Amino acid sequence: MKQFAKSMNSSTLRTLTTSKRALFTCFLLTIGIGYIMALFYLFLVDFDPHQKMGMNASEGISMKYGGQQGKTRLEAALRGSMSDRLDPGDKQEIIQWIRGGATANSYEKVKPNFEKNCMACHSAKSGLPVPPLTSFEEV
Ligand code: HEC
Repeated sequence: MKQFAKSMNSSTLRTLTTSKRALFTCFLLTIGIGYIMALFYLFLVDFDPHQKMGMNASEGISMKYGGQQGKTRLEAALRGSMSDRLDPGDKQEIIQWIRGGATANSYEKVKPNFEKNCMACHSAKSGLPVPPLTSFEEV
């Protein structure tokens, strides 16, 4: 135990041989440069572009990984050009579904809503040049 403590004591950077000192110095430099590069990368990819779009860091990251909820094409259409195609209750139901994550499991609940209000035009049968909305994947 005493010998172990002694050997631990003696292994500071100062007391190592030159080659070991060079080895550890190179290791620390490599890790240090890597760390600075990683910070630089984060800045270039996550902070700077989002800041230019008027978002702070956490908003930018949640948009990058969680998507822009509330600004989907579907919700934009429901609030805009398609807003007179369904009654407010139905609209609210679909918007709530989108805000709740628009998952495949919960799609069954809103499917009749799409059938009733949207599929007359948004299906291959209608012949209109519009995106089909007949299944979860298409929606
Ligand atoms: C009477 C036919 C009709 C019905 C019913 C209809 N749509 Fe549309 N939809 C269109 C047409 C035509 C366009 C393309 C022109 C436009 O964007 O206004 C369109 C475009 C869209 C778009 C694409 C907008 C974009 O970003 O380009 C979406 C999304 C959409 N509709 C969703 C819906 C939803 C959801 C419903 C049901 C609540 C619905 N539509 C009901 C005719 C319809």
